[in-house]
Amino acid sequence: MTVTFDPVHYKNTTRTQWEDAATAWHTWGPTLEDWLGEATTLMLDAAGITTGSSVLDVAAGAGGQSLAAAHRVGPSGQVLATDISPAILEYAAAAAAAAGLTNVRTRELDGERLDVDPAAFDAVISRLGLIYFPDQPGALAGQYRALRPGGRISAIVYSTAERNGFFSIPISIIRRRAQLPPPAPGQPGPFSLGGPDAIEDAFRAAGFRTVGSQTVPAPLSMTHAQDCVRFERESFGALHQMLAGLTPAQREQAWQEISTELARFEGPEGFQGPCELIVAWGMK
Ligand SMILES: C[S@@+](CC[C@H](N)C(=O)[O-])C[C@H]1O[C@@H](n2cnc3c(N)ncnc32)[C@H](O)[C@@H]1O
Repeated sequence: MTVTFDPVHYKNTTRTQWEDAATAWHTWGPTLEDWLGEATTLMLDAAGITTGSSVLDVAAGAGGQSLAAAHRVGPSGQVLATDISPAILEYAAAAAAAAGLTNVRTRELDGERLDVDPAAFDAVISRLGLIYFPDQPGALAGQYRALRPGGRISAIVYSTAERNGFFSIPISIIRRRAQLPPPAPGQPGPFSLGGPDAIEDAFRAAGFRTVGSQTVPAPLSMTHAQDCVRFERESFGALHQMLAGLTPAQREQAWQEISTELARFEGPEGFQGPCELIVAWGMK
C-alpha cells in the first residue's frame, strides 16, 4: 500500500487538533515550564533577546516562552506570539494580561506563511513548533525574511526517538495498533529535526550563518508514570491525530499499554521520562 502525504489535509488536521488541545496545553503550563525551562532560557540567550528586542514567536502555543521573552525585553521591547490555532493564542493573550505585560501581541498565523513585515524583528524563536511543519525549508525562509540583518533565530526541537522514550514509546505503540506507516524522511513529526546535524543543516540551507546547537537533557519529572500518561493523553495533539482511526475501546487499550510501558521509568525518586532537546541557533 502506498500512503501519500497530503500537506493540506495534514495542516487542517493539525489546526483542529490544537484547537481541541488548547485548554489542556494551557492547564499543563506549569509542568511545561518546569520541563522546558532550561532549554527555553538557552533559546532566549541564543536568540540574543535583551532589553528592547522585537521578537517573533512562531507556533507560540499558550505562550510560555512568549511571556519569558516579554519579561526579558521589558516595556521598550515587544513580542508577537503567532500560532495556527486561535484558541491556544487566547490563552497566551490572557496569560500576558494576567502578568501585567503590555508588550505581547498575538496573531493567528500559519508558521509557513508568515505575513509580517520583512526585516521587522531582532529575533525569531520557536519552541517545539518547527517539527510539525510540513514545509520546514519554506517556514525557515519566512523566518529569515522576518529578521533584520544581524538578527538571530533560535529554536527548540526534540532529538532522536531513541532519546525521547517518554514520547516515542507512546508513538510506536499507537503506530502499531493503528497500523500507521513510519513517517517517511522529510515528513513532519516530533523527531523530524532530531537527527545528527538536521536542524543545523536546515538553518544553513535557509541562509543563516554562525549556526550552532546544544543538546539539553530534559527528563520529564513527575510523581507517577500515570501523570505523564495523563499529560500526553490530554494535551499531545500529535497523539490524538494518530489515534483518530481507532475505536474508543481500541484507544483505551492503547493507553493501557502506554501506561504499562512508561511505568518502567518510575523509581524511588518518582517518574523520570527520558527526553532530550536540541536548542539550535543562527544569525541572518
Ligand atoms: C507542542 S506545541 C508548542 C507550543 C509552545 N511553543 C510551547 O512550547 O508551549 C506546538 C504548537 O505548534 C502549533 N502549530 C502547529 N503547526 C503550525 C503551523 N503550521 N503554524 C503555526 N503554528 C503551528 C500548534 O498549534 C501548537 O500550538
